[in-house]
Parts: sequence; structure tokens; C-alpha cells
Amino acid sequence: MPSRPLTGRIRVPGDKSISHRSLMFGALAVGRSRISGLLEGEDVLATAAALRAMGAHIERDGGEWVVHGVGVGGLLQPDQALDMGNSGTSTRLLMGVIASHGITATFTGDASLSKRPMDRVIDPLSTMGASFTPSPGGTLPLMMEGMQPAVPITYRLPVASAQVKSAVLLAGLNTPGTTTVIEPVPTRDHTERMLRGFGAELTVEEADGERVVRIHGPADLQPCDIAVPGDPSSAAFFAVAASVVPGSDLVIENVGLNPTRDGIFRVLEQMGASIDHLDEREVGGEPVADLRVRHAALRGIEVDPAIAPSMIDEFPVLFVAAAMAEGTTVTKGLHELRVKESDRLAAMACALQMTGVSLKETDDGLIVEGSGGKPLSGGGPVTTHLDHRIAMSMAVAGLASREGVEVDSIEPIATSFPNFSALIEEATA
Ligand code: S3P
Repeated sequence: MPSRPLTGRIRVPGDKSISHRSLMFGALAVGRSRISGLLEGEDVLATAAALRAMGAHIERDGGEWVVHGVGVGGLLQPDQALDMGNSGTSTRLLMGVIASHGITATFTGDASLSKRPMDRVIDPLSTMGASFTPSPGGTLPLMMEGMQPAVPITYRLPVASAQVKSAVLLAGLNTPGTTTVIEPVPTRDHTERMLRGFGAELTVEEADGERVVRIHGPADLQPCDIAVPGDPSSAAFFAVAASVVPGSDLVIENVGLNPTRDGIFRVLEQMGASIDHLDEREVGGEPVADLRVRHAALRGIEVDPAIAPSMIDEFPVLFVAAAMAEGTTVTKGLHELRVKESDRLAAMACALQMTGVSLKETDDGLIVEGSGGKPLSGGGPVTTHLDHRIAMSMAVAGLASREGVEVDSIEPIATSFPNFSALIEEATA
């Protein structure tokens, strides 16, 4: 039997991208920053542990977090390898920070992270003067030596990646002169917004349809009090679940709706989802609203590849929505999904087929045939490949299925959304 409807009001944890950055920028400011709403998931805790190992003081104080920063250029050499767990964001952003500090560091990670490409950050950071000894294929474990002073560069991103953009800008913080990143396609802009909030001299300009971001170093960062909004990537699982389970009427409170992150909600609306934005406001310099999501008949669409960067982590759960829609959903231009915590095109194709969905996997996307609202058959166990978003997406598919979906492991969910199962229970109680 499909699940009971999702009803009531829930609040998802803090945004993962903003949480990582709050800790890092707090550690690079001189003095005390306070953070409320920090995501206490394993990925963010890996960032905190690495920053502590390099001299920052970071502690939990009641419901908030306090960071005593050491200043740009003030990080110390860690005396042990930095264990990044599953977290690509921690790894790539910290590689950027260390690149312009005169210290060496070794990065290690779990089996998933150890397969992910690091050459995308190694290339620009090497040009700035840092040196790297990665494992074969440009992967972790990896040793790096920063360069102080580093050399400012102008770098045009060859892939749409906020992690690469941020790594170069963070290296630019302690680099004398102007470091420039050119983005042909805009990606999430939390680094730019927050660095300005911390007092960095950073400008963003549009030129010939590209975004040009410049940071002037060395920067003096002032400590900040930060309120982290709810993570739209986490809210997306509940928005899809409430859309596909009949009878649902759910309010998801305090969802961050930065236009570089809200693509999933726009695409769901194009598919016919009923999503009301209530009490639109600003939290921590980011647009936020409460989302009221009611069950609706979804229809398949062709997803515009241009929207992909603003929902890059939400495709796994979009494929679940597509599986329940009327008609065919076509996605393309999604090569990047193959180098996330897992190959998300292959992992979702395999998992959804196992639970009764017909689809075709292409080079750069999935073409999903929807059931027209009929419950999926369910089944499993599906393989999650140490990927939290595959596990949560297939849990949502389970809610919309006759027999439920068994996933091989729910442990990876703790990297980004520790109370996911508790909130599902609460919403379906
Ligand atoms: C992130 C950027 C994205 C996203 C990741 C978080 C960030 O990665 O997938 O979950 O916080 O900058 P890419 O830069 O690889 O697209």
C-alpha cells in the first residue's frame, strides 16, 4: 500500500552549502562568529574537524555554534591527515583555502569520495602556485602544499561547478592582487554573498552573458552572526513526496529559495505540482519561504538543460516525480551527475527499474516513462553506492509504491539529513 498522506508542518535542517561556508569563513575571520541553524550532518562536521585541526576554535553552544577564527593566512599545519568522509564540498573548498597558506596537508575520504575527480581544483590551484600529489586519476588520498604568497589568476570555469569557483575564490582570499573567476553558466552563489557579508572586497559583474567574480586579496574578514536557512535540497524530498502521495498537504517551513538553488521547485511546478510560497522573507541574506505542497497530478516534461545548475543535486528525486507523472520526462545535459557521490544517472536508472519504472539511460540524462499516478510496484534491495541522495530518493519512491522499496543502506543519509527518517514518520503519522 502506498504511504499515508504527508501532512502538518515540518522544518528541514540547515543548508549544507551555507553551513560549510559559515564554518570556513568564520575560521578565516579574526574573532568570534555565531551560527544558528547549522546543519549538524557528517559532511559539515568533517569541515569543522578539519578547521579545528588547523587551529580554529569551533564549539557548540546551546543550539548555536561559535567559531573563533584565526584570520586569513593564519591557519596552522595540521599534524594528521584531514578525513573528509563523504564530503566533496569540504575537500574542494578546503583545498582552495590551503592553496594560499604556507602549509602542507593530506586529504583522505571514504570509498565514494576517493573515486571523485579532484583535477578540476588541482588545475587552477596549481596555476596559483600550490603543488599536489594525488592518487592515480587525480583522486584522494592526496597530499598538497600551499604557496604563500600565491599568484592571482583569471580562471574561466570549464565545468559549471560552485565548488571549483569557490576553491579559486578562497585561494584568492590570501593572494595579493585580484583573483578572477569567470562563470559561463551561473552556479550557486553562496560564497559570493557570504564573503561580502564577512567584509571581503568582492565584485560580481555580467559581461557578454558570463558572470565575472573578482576578489581582492589579501582580505581581512570580520566575524559575522549567521542564520542558516533550511536546505532546499533536503526540502525537495518532501516536496516530491507530498506531490506524489495522494491526500498530502504539507508545509515545509523556512526553505532557502536562492534563485541559484530553487530549480527543482520551478520544474515541479511546470509538471503541475501545487506549491504555494508562504511568508516570503529573508534569512541570513538569502530569500526564504514556507512551502505548502499539496498532492497533484504531475505530467512529464522536457527539462530545460539550462536549469540544471540550479537543481544539480535534485535530479535523483526529480526522477522519482517523473516516474509518477503522466507521460514522458526527458532530461539531458547532466554529465556532471556521473561524478557526484555516485554516478547518479546509473544508480537511479538501476534503482528505479528495480522498482517497476520503465526508463532509458542516455549518455547525459534519463528518459522516464511515468505511471500516470499509479503506485510503483516497489521492491529492492536497491544499491545506494554510499550516496545519501540515492537513499532518500528511493525512500520517497517507496512511499509511492505498493510494496515499499528496500535500500541496501540508510547510513549515508546522516551525511546531509540526519533526521530524515524521523521527519518522514512525523509527516506520515
Ligand atoms: C556544492 C556544489 C555542487 C553540489 C554540492 C554542493 C557547493 O557541486 O553538487 O552538493 O556547496 O558548492 P559542484 O560544484 O560539483 O557542482
